[in-house]
Amino acid sequence: MTQIAIIYHSAFGHTDVIAKDVAAGVAAAGATPVLLAIEAGQTDFDEFFAVAAESDALIFGSPTYMGNVSAPAKTFMDASAKVWFGQGWKDKIAAGFTVSASPSGDKLNTLTSLAIFAAQHGMVWIGTGQMPGNNDDTSAATDVENRLGSFIGAMAQAANESAEVTPKAGDRATAVSLGKRVAEAAARWRAGARETVAAA
Ligand SMILES: Cc1cc2nc3c(=O)[nH]c(=O)nc-3n(C[C@H](O)[C@H](O)[C@H](O)COP(=O)(O)O)c2cc1C
Repeated sequence: MTQIAIIYHSAFGHTDVIAKDVAAGVAAAGATPVLLAIEAGQTDFDEFFAVAAESDALIFGSPTYMGNVSAPAKTFMDASAKVWFGQGWKDKIAAGFTVSASPSGDKLNTLTSLAIFAAQHGMVWIGTGQMPGNNDDTSAATDVENRLGSFIGAMAQAANESAEVTPKAGDRATAVSLGKRVAEAAARWRAGARETVAAA
């Protein structure tokens, strides 16, 4: 069974909603999602690393704070250097998602940071694979998938309201789609690895 770890931080609940949507997408594709929420002040990630070692893919999520990943997310990233030394995540599938208050909010930079982080670990990055949902200036509909037009990862906007009402349906559906896409890619990658070993 393909297992996908979703490793994320959320201070005010918005990224938590999106993480759970990603998990729903993973489950809908027949894989097993494991949600690992980074707590503020957390410094010991050994349990996370143990789950990650058993997972076929890792999906990283962070709110955008000051145009980048949040400090707790960065603490996790830096702590993962101990995995990096042994290249423990090499050739695992990776993807990312972020939430910010503004439609842009410089959140591309957050996803770029996560993609570089995955590349440093030798991982294989999966983007949204979705065409932009609102590629015109006549509609601000919030129920359209990939309305923020991101290829590198799932973007969501939480516009200064509680996590009960925002992010809206389109961004949440984008997160579900990313979870499905990563689960499907991880299953193919896993089957391909088995074939390669069998042929050797
Ligand atoms: C310290 C801090 C910095 C933030 N920086 C940005 C930013 O650069 N761009 C943006 O659009 N929103 C910014 N926000 C808003 C958050 O991205 C937004 O509230 C997000 O939904 C928080 O996610 P969470 O509820 O999962 O913690 C910032 C919020 C905080 C607390």
